Amino acid sequence: MPWVRLKERRRIALSNRPVWLDDKTKSITDPAIARETSLSRLLVTYIVTGLVFMLLPGTFLGVWNLINISSREAAESISPAWIQAHGHAQLFGWVGTFILGIGFYSIPKLRKRKPFALWSAWLTWVLWVTGVTVRWFSNIYPWHWRIALPLSATLELVAFLIFFQAVASHRSSRPPTPLEPWIFVVIAATLGLFASLLLNLGASFQLALNGGSPAFPHLFDQRYLMVSTWGFIVPMVWGFSARWLPVFMGLRPLRNSLLLPALAFNFLGVILAFLEHFFAGGILLLVGAVTAVAAIRFFEPAAKPAKTVTVHRSFPVFIRIAYGWLLIAGALGIWAAVTGAAPGIWGGSRHALTVGFIAAMIFCVGQRILPSFCGMRVLWSPTLMLVMLVLLMSGCTLRVVSEILAYQNYATWAWNILPVSALLELAAVALFAVNLIGTFARPPVVVASPLTMTTE
Ligand code: HEM
Repeated sequence: MPWVRLKERRRIALSNRPVWLDDKTKSITDPAIARETSLSRLLVTYIVTGLVFMLLPGTFLGVWNLINISSREAAESISPAWIQAHGHAQLFGWVGTFILGIGFYSIPKLRKRKPFALWSAWLTWVLWVTGVTVRWFSNIYPWHWRIALPLSATLELVAFLIFFQAVASHRSSRPPTPLEPWIFVVIAATLGLFASLLLNLGASFQLALNGGSPAFPHLFDQRYLMVSTWGFIVPMVWGFSARWLPVFMGLRPLRNSLLLPALAFNFLGVILAFLEHFFAGGILLLVGAVTAVAAIRFFEPAAKPAKTVTVHRSFPVFIRIAYGWLLIAGALGIWAAVTGAAPGIWGGSRHALTVGFIAAMIFCVGQRILPSFCGMRVLWSPTLMLVMLVLLMSGCTLRVVSEILAYQNYATWAWNILPVSALLELAAVALFAVNLIGTFARPPVVVASPLTMTTE
């Protein structure tokens, strides 16, 4: 059965053993293998696109903004449109593109579908990339922004709806089985993405008709960011964590009964924060995060050794540090809500979340699963992975601490630390891109030889 062989090839790619296939198995005429190849090519395109957004419109602009802020020693000294261009490129251009690509790649497999129309995935890519690019330019160069801003938001929403229709309309050929809780978490996160895109569309039209610049007003931006970070990306990471990490880290069995309450606390927190009840919302977000950590059992002794053959063996340590940053982000959010207008604490909380948690999780889990999904390859350099994670975590620690000290006027020397933190994070992000591109340039682990070698 082609499907069985395919599953076997993916399992072996994930286990990083050299695989030997006979000529029959290698046949590219096999429809399942041909489909796998097309899906891998599609995923590589999405991932490379996400890396481009991450590097230039995202991180490079973020570093530029931070260096300007610290040289002027004033958080509000640069254009809000430039800050929002950076944020949108990171959340939607990088993380969103990764998620859409992985969604197109993996959902048909999970449902064991046979025919799969790839045209919708390519159309989504074109619309999404155009939308996110137009959005970035309309924030940076406000040329015809009253047209460009709503146009970009419309393109992003249409791209999402095609994605949603593609993944929701296919039915499994097998009898229906109850969905596992982690799938609910991923579905809820997808609805969080939908809500973010709807808010983005409404606000873009509102600005185009009545606004004076392409930047969202500060308060709306704060509320909107709650939805697009805690309401979309955080539960998406929890869903993937619940799916993969018990196996990859050898954790004790998932506490499924806690996963859905974690999601409920989180969504209630997002709704309250969106309604400007930042303190109550912040408490619920933190309770949700603690509950998710308890559900996935990150900080309990592992039941089995971690499976780290394809990545650096420090992988489980960095996952735990990333979840530590999630809790810090939640706690700082509560502190910021109590303090009121406190740009340093809000900024520290957001950076702890976006870099300490989100970027670190993508760096860890991405390098564990993407090489095998993208054509059954093995990560180019586990050592580079360690170096980039150390750089990312050092940069993030320096940034969060010095942003609070500098922006809140607690210590003026901290302004000098901010550019250092930015350069450390830039180096980490660049190494992440290099490691993935180097991985995609490697040949697949599958080579011709006896099929018997494919079994473990
Ligand atoms: C080298 C790494 C990075 C640097 C230097 C950087 C810099 C900045 C700066 C200076 C701000 C303005 C607010 C503030 O002063 O705190 C900001 C905001 C933001 N950043 Fe970053 N950032 C980086 C990485 C990231 C990453 C990886 C993400 C997401 C995955 C991200 C998402 C955001 C978001 C959402 C905002 C808020 C935008 C808004 O106000 O609408 N950043 N960043």
